[in-house]
Amino acid sequence: LRTQKVEARLARLVLGGEVLRRAGEVFERELERGLKEQPSSLQMENTYVPELPDGTEEGVFLALDLGGTNFRVLLLELRAGDLVDQRVKQYHISNALRLGTGEELFNFLADCVLDFLTELGMQDQEFSLGFTFSFPMKLHSISSGELITWTKSFKCSGLEGVDVAALLQRCLRARRLRVTVRVLLNDTTGTLVAGAHMHKHVGIGVILGTGSNGCYMERASRVQHWEAAHERVRDVCVDVEWGAFGDNGCLDFLKTEFDREVDAGSLLATSFTFEKYIGGKYLGSLLTSALSALARAGLFPAAPAPDSLQTAHLSLFEEENCSGEVSRTVAALREACAADVSAQDALVAQHVAHVISNRAAQLVSVCIACLLRRMDRPHVAVAVDGSVFKHHPRIADLMHKYIALLAPHHPFSILGAEDGSGKGSALTAAIAARLAARDA
Ligand code: BG6
Ligand code: GLC
Repeated sequence: LRTQKVEARLARLVLGGEVLRRAGEVFERELERGLKEQPSSLQMENTYVPELPDGTEEGVFLALDLGGTNFRVLLLELRAGDLVDQRVKQYHISNALRLGTGEELFNFLADCVLDFLTELGMQDQEFSLGFTFSFPMKLHSISSGELITWTKSFKCSGLEGVDVAALLQRCLRARRLRVTVRVLLNDTTGTLVAGAHMHKHVGIGVILGTGSNGCYMERASRVQHWEAAHERVRDVCVDVEWGAFGDNGCLDFLKTEFDREVDAGSLLATSFTFEKYIGGKYLGSLLTSALSALARAGLFPAAPAPDSLQTAHLSLFEEENCSGEVSRTVAALREACAADVSAQDALVAQHVAHVISNRAAQLVSVCIACLLRRMDRPHVAVAVDGSVFKHHPRIADLMHKYIALLAPHHPFSILGAEDGSGKGSALTAAIAARLAARDA
């Protein structure tokens, strides 16, 4: 009886084939509208990255990676497209900086570059830099673009509408660094480019991390937004920005009470609707919200304390669920709920974690399947990076299953592209140099 009552409370999180097909149709419609610059919740941003690595990329590049779990400065050496050497340093970005002014944040980024190069004794050398800025941008070229809006856990003032590459350049110059920002790119683009170097059929880049998003190679003739010459370009990488899918209400048919609660408690409420169903920043909150509802209905011993369950817990519950164990689930729940949690209760929580994970995999698969149908190539490899993809024990298998169901005639493979963005931004800087030399 308890099982039935639990199922009834979770029913709206369980998406059947009909709902998924409908979500796919809406996604495709929004995607078309976005490409045509008509009102849409999908931005479909032209990244100006017109080609993928061809194995000739050479040189030493700096890269900055901002927007995921860690902020990193990287120095990468490429030879014949291969990464032959890499130095990486992670810097902590405090909450005060994440929520302070944009100027402060960018001065901090430049300070980190200075610190990094000084440690290597290279502060006087000249470098080209690739800036991976994992936020939605209005891109003007391969090396310039404005922030549209913050997402995830950043909300700095005064940066919306500002060219972040130019601002970074100014802050670097102020420190007398001889570093030129050559490329500004999204993390999905970095992942796609890095993946393309690993596998020749890569055509889609996906992030399943703190946030979620994807990019793909689109025919240039279908892209409306161009601010630079493109006569010779056949394909171009388009950043979908699917985190914002549904912000115009087009997906309200699948929104649940739990989604509303998570959104209301988020830093940027009423925006990035879809990302809140999938991103690692939110899956732990969804779990908390669903368990709290069960507790209110007398189906679970107590509600977890706010912020006590993270996405890592969801992954842990799934892991134990796969192997038929409960002991660590019980221990985590006892701590989070400050209550006596039995093995039966732990099984309920594992079930909730699975329902939430399954929905996330279904939804991201809806988008990928749509891109596969649209690209209609004999085989497309999807390069994926991000903490949820790396740490969730089931997500890759679930994605395989749902993508195959939703795009049955479109062969694909999924490729883990760990730390793709750093390498991707160095490769893109090399591609940009190659194109500049060709056009000169
Ligand atoms: C990293 C990339 O591996 O994955 C980042 O280098 C990206 O650019 C990140 O933002 C996404 O994952 P997470 O989980 O750190 O948000
Ligand atoms: C958010 C950002 C997007 C990024 C994604 C993954 O959705 O808007 O640009 O790619 O997070 O980091």
